[in-house]
Amino acid sequence: MKNYKTVHVNVKNGYDIKIGENLIQTLGEEISSMVSNAKVAIISDDIVYAKYGKNVEEVISKKGIVAKTYVFSHGEENKNLITYGKILEFLATNGFDRGDVIVALGGGVVGDTAGFVSATYLRGIKYVQVPTTLLSAVDSSVGGKTAVDLIAGKNLVGAFYQPSLVLIDTNIIANLPKDVFLDGMGEVLKYSLLSKDVFDLLNSSNYSISELIYLCIDYKKRIVEEDEFENGNRKLLNLGHTPAHAIELLSQFKITHGRAVALGLRIIVNYCLKINRITQGEYDSFVNIYNKFIEDEKLPYTNKEMYFASLSDKKRLGDSISIVVIDGIGKPKIEKIKRTLLEEVYS
Ligand code: GLY
Repeated sequence: MKNYKTVHVNVKNGYDIKIGENLIQTLGEEISSMVSNAKVAIISDDIVYAKYGKNVEEVISKKGIVAKTYVFSHGEENKNLITYGKILEFLATNGFDRGDVIVALGGGVVGDTAGFVSATYLRGIKYVQVPTTLLSAVDSSVGGKTAVDLIAGKNLVGAFYQPSLVLIDTNIIANLPKDVFLDGMGEVLKYSLLSKDVFDLLNSSNYSISELIYLCIDYKKRIVEEDEFENGNRKLLNLGHTPAHAIELLSQFKITHGRAVALGLRIIVNYCLKINRITQGEYDSFVNIYNKFIEDEKLPYTNKEMYFASLSDKKRLGDSISIVVIDGIGKPKIEKIKRTLLEEVYS
């Protein structure tokens, strides 16, 4: 009996996202139905590999597929050109060719790095995303944004390159350490402002993690189908990210992405209330959801610090800056504002 949900992303070389319990056990079957006589390169980090690596190797080799594994040290600081280069050399040394498949087993760092490797090794090789954090399940594993960081900033080198399959095992997500799970709630809260369905689900007392992931992805997939290369509405997915990037930068990345996004959303929602874009009722309901998941954390930076950090963001254009605001729950809008107004957004 089918015990998972599927979301199909209808872009060129469209692909399925499957969400359900124990899906990791089906990875071997999935790969055999995708390619024949292929080898698999599993790319993971040390923490994820220790938990799930052997199991993944087993389900793949049980299908008679040769699997080789590359493991690198966890953490954003390793999402860089050095790791990227080492993985490319590993693939070449082990004779991987264009008919083979990469499996990205991990959170956002692994997914982004392995995705960028897949986009560029031999000018493109198939890859499967197996996200193991809530953040990567609801956001980074879907939509084909791949990248590594440069010393000058995050995600400065990358490509839009869609996976061939995203396999989300909800058992893995449900068993995450609390802090990793809550980090993902930053992006989930973003979807609650973008989509009334996610908002209503989070307001209800009883829902499953699989339903929550499904609704976030269902929203994202429609945006990706409409604007795969982020020329327009895909920018809506950056809601809360202008202040979040400033926070990450000021904290020297000690405040994680998800927590920074949560703080960033709070800033944007406060601003939207101040300029009468949302009602007090909508504001209160959002704060109610926010408080359920995010421990109250005061922003440790001044308006001025936030303002100058934002000006160094790569998305800044001349005198103005684009931010995403909401005109009510589920009604996001991109607005170009004078950059001097940004200090008011942060006040
Ligand atoms: N993480 C936002 C996007 O994929 O566009």
